[in-house]
Amino acid sequence: MTPLSTQQSDDLTAAVKEKYGAAARRVLSGEGVPAECCGSSGCCGGAATASCDPISSNLYVSGETDALPEAAVLASLGCGNPTALAELREGEVALDLGSGGGIDVLLSARRVGPTGKAYGLDMTDDMLALARKNAADAGVTNVEFLRGRIEEIPLPSNSVDVIISNCVVNLSGDKQRVIAEAFRVLKPGGRFAVSDVVVQGELPPDVKRSMELWVGCVAGALSDAEFVKLLSDAGFENASVEVTRTYEVEDARAFLVNTGVDADRIARDVAGRIGAAFIRATKSAVAPVKPKSSRTCGCADDCCT
Ligand SMILES: C[S@@+](CC[C@H](N)C(=O)[O-])C[C@H]1O[C@@H](n2cnc3c(N)ncnc32)[C@H](O)[C@@H]1O
Repeated sequence: MTPLSTQQSDDLTAAVKEKYGAAARRVLSGEGVPAECCGSSGCCGGAATASCDPISSNLYVSGETDALPEAAVLASLGCGNPTALAELREGEVALDLGSGGGIDVLLSARRVGPTGKAYGLDMTDDMLALARKNAADAGVTNVEFLRGRIEEIPLPSNSVDVIISNCVVNLSGDKQRVIAEAFRVLKPGGRFAVSDVVVQGELPPDVKRSMELWVGCVAGALSDAEFVKLLSDAGFENASVEVTRTYEVEDARAFLVNTGVDADRIARDVAGRIGAAFIRATKSAVAPVKPKSSRTCGCADDCCT
């Protein structure tokens, strides 16, 4: 997938901030589930309580979110459970790209414990406000929510053990940059453990052109092959994509309706080809060694011998 133009990217950023900011404000004001998320792709699904939503319903196993503030669960707009994939360990540093209301940051914080830390990164102010309130309400102190873009992560190189993300990479207009930034901030041996929407084959052109469907986590979805190639090109090893949920014709109609496309026709076309997936990769524990012939020799360097 080629990166969007600057203008397209700016338009997408504005639309994403508007949509997810509104969703956060509804939860903050106590209105709860963003109503338009049910039966349309107003956002990446609706909310954990919205059983009508094919993308974001029933992502967490029973009991997993019981200790979290209700607002964190209500604002769950992902498409998987990356914290289950990430195998987080005590003392590790985790970073959630596009952390939204903070559900996966709070779950990660519990897993890495008091000697570890969970960062959330988001560009939408109202989502950050909601996430910080949820962390305070949960009494969790080993978390920090950062304001910024996933294309320009505000953390030093080699500082994070695990990158998680839940249905956000698809929203970026420059995914190559996102993956390069993820690689930069991961420590050697660090893991990329992300949930996202993926597509088999090509999406119809009218889907790709729809801003509603970009913001709804569908139009910007990569194919599994594109995801693996982006990760490998950035230097990651062992890149893989495991499909965890496939959206059939009724699911597809639910997220296509009211988005300006012919929902019935396209639902039949894309049924079974759009799904949610776990995407895994690792950053090598050792820096790659350049072949001797391509290295510049210095006085203290044994490469000339
Ligand atoms: C679909 S929601 C997912 C939120 C959260 N991961 C979850 O599972 O509930 C997308 C979130 O990513 C944020 N986001 C989207 N694109 C972003 C970008 N380029 N940089 C930073 N945040 C972004 C949005 O503000 C929104 O909070």
